[in-house]
Amino acid sequence: MTDKKTEEAAQDVKTTIRRIIDIWRQEADFSANYASNYPDDDAVQWRRDFYKTMVADMLPGFGGSTGCDLGCCYGFSTLFLRDLGARRVYGVDPFSPFIDKAQSWQQTFTLEGLCFLLMADTRIPLDDASCDWVVINQVFSNAYDGTRAAALSETRRILKPGGVLVFSDGNNPHCPATLNRLRKAYRDYEIGDGTAAAPRGPAFLNRCRLIRRFDAALGEEEMTALARGTCYAWGAQIKAAVRDYRVTHTLPARFFRDDAVQVPLNPENGRAVGNITDPYELAGQMQALGFETHICMSPDWRPLSAPALAAQLKTASLFYIYARKR
Ligand SMILES: C[S@@+](CC[C@H](N)C(=O)[O-])C[C@H]1O[C@@H](n2cnc3c(N)ncnc32)[C@H](O)[C@@H]1O
Repeated sequence: MTDKKTEEAAQDVKTTIRRIIDIWRQEADFSANYASNYPDDDAVQWRRDFYKTMVADMLPGFGGSTGCDLGCCYGFSTLFLRDLGARRVYGVDPFSPFIDKAQSWQQTFTLEGLCFLLMADTRIPLDDASCDWVVINQVFSNAYDGTRAAALSETRRILKPGGVLVFSDGNNPHCPATLNRLRKAYRDYEIGDGTAAAPRGPAFLNRCRLIRRFDAALGEEEMTALARGTCYAWGAQIKAAVRDYRVTHTLPARFFRDDAVQVPLNPENGRAVGNITDPYELAGQMQALGFETHICMSPDWRPLSAPALAAQLKTASLFYIYARKR
């Protein structure tokens, strides 16, 4: 796109996002909370530029390509990718309220080349080898452990040979600041003014309320155990955990230990749970699936030597992985 066209497109996308947010606010819709990520046009521009640098500028043939924005939430990232020149972008998410919302704003603005689809039972509803690229941005830090592997193998399935997965996430555990942030979140949202044995944080209490709503017959002890076992899960994931518990009587694996100072650990294997995303581990999983991978610390894919990468991972939470399907 020429500079003038890029500027006009950026202006259009700002106007569209402002109008969507205005509608949500008028309707006092729950999605209005999400709008706090886009307080003004500068924030919209910043996010659009992020996708431009990380995806549109880096993929030859991006203009006219077909791609998938996996974990699209309300679909604003999908809108950016489409408006940056891709011919067709599929926004896919496993949480139906997000997809319903994205589909409803899309109908209001009748935007071409965008399609929002629900990912049911960890399957991406797209054909094999149908995409030139897949973007997974800030999704795995919100994903339940068991669903990450499926998301990666589904990504591989829908990519054309030579297609690229652009992955970015912000909870790299090699960075002490990340671990401090997660510990603080654990104390603030899970423990609150209670103790690790009897948590009272707002996220914990909210899960208890949801679990009650999904199964009013659960005893107090079972409900608390389920709420402890679904640390960091929400919505559909909690519903699934309650359903599984009803059938199998097994609790989900996301326990946190009675130690409010530590990042929540799974006592079964002693590993950190919650929203940690380890770049080395993820790159290893991608390689095992047949991707060539490249971890870096800036969205312009700048290569780093192994020692430089290790040093930078200690100081920054955010990292990128570019993975090409062989
Ligand atoms: C923080 S939002 C990211 C939104 C968007 N990618 C962006 O960059 O603005 C995280 C999204 O990931 C979705 N998600 C969580 N687990 C997932 C999984 N296993 N596969 C695909 N999406 C998932 C959630 O439903 C949520 O909408």
